[in-house]
Amino acid sequence: MYTTLKAVTSKAEELNYTVGAFNAHNLEMLPDMIRAAKEQGSPIIIQTSIDTAKYIGHENFVAVCQSMATKEMVDVVLHLDHARNFDDIKEAIDKGYTSVMYDGSHLPLKENIMKTRAVVEYAHAHGVSVEGELGTIGGTEEGIHVDENDKVFTDPKDAVEFVKATGVDALAIAIGTNHGQYKSKTNVNIPLLKEIDAAVDTPLVIHGGTGVNEQDIHELINNGIRKFNVGTELLVAWTKTAKETFEETKETKSLRHNIIPCNQAVKEVVKHKISIFMNKEDRIFMSREKQAVGVK
Ligand code: 13P
Repeated sequence: MYTTLKAVTSKAEELNYTVGAFNAHNLEMLPDMIRAAKEQGSPIIIQTSIDTAKYIGHENFVAVCQSMATKEMVDVVLHLDHARNFDDIKEAIDKGYTSVMYDGSHLPLKENIMKTRAVVEYAHAHGVSVEGELGTIGGTEEGIHVDENDKVFTDPKDAVEFVKATGVDALAIAIGTNHGQYKSKTNVNIPLLKEIDAAVDTPLVIHGGTGVNEQDIHELINNGIRKFNVGTELLVAWTKTAKETFEETKETKSLRHNIIPCNQAVKEVVKHKISIFMNKEDRIFMSREKQAVGVK
């Protein structure tokens, strides 16, 4: 089913897993990302930057996600990542995206609340979910750079005020992660996550998933992370493979000989991440309340 962020994260909260939100960097890789989710029996959030949506065409992303969700019987959400401008958000909603992120994290709290609230009103009137952000995530994404020294962690008190005043469906939090951190791994601040999770009921979102140590993922899930963003790792897998295949293949050979291995490399990353996100290894599906009291 072609569905919303709210629908997939509600189910994830009920059953204590997290939903992978994978950045599609071109249209070629998209079908295999959705097939990966189908093979893992999991929902998937496909996210695009504004520039990628414009380069491919919003309607084309919508068409592929919709048709594959129906044909492959997978829950697919199409989400606009990191938008700072109402017109970009309106365009994605009007053209059929089912979820949007308004990123007001660079603004003072009151202004972030006011602008996020306006997005929520428009989006909810169109049946679309909204992710907001509080605190700053380090690194560079789509030309926006946040320096290590300018990173601000999410304040749990602000989080309470923000979710209440805006009505967002998901909250991106800053607990130490960075966008585009491919080579090293993040020191995630689990005590802060626990505080935020205890203070708000809204599903929480991790950005900069490439830099998160896979050993930390279960703990993140067990403390309320319901959307887990991964972008750079897919980009690197596609590009590395492309460099090899384009180098080896004759110019006159069909392009699919170059492209299929790239899409396969992305598919393997998505499948691997989802296998951890579904949190199947050390538990039977059960709600956090039931886990707390030890009900089987
Ligand atoms: P990475 O590219 O670091 O995985 O982050 C993705 C992301 O958070 C998209 O918003």
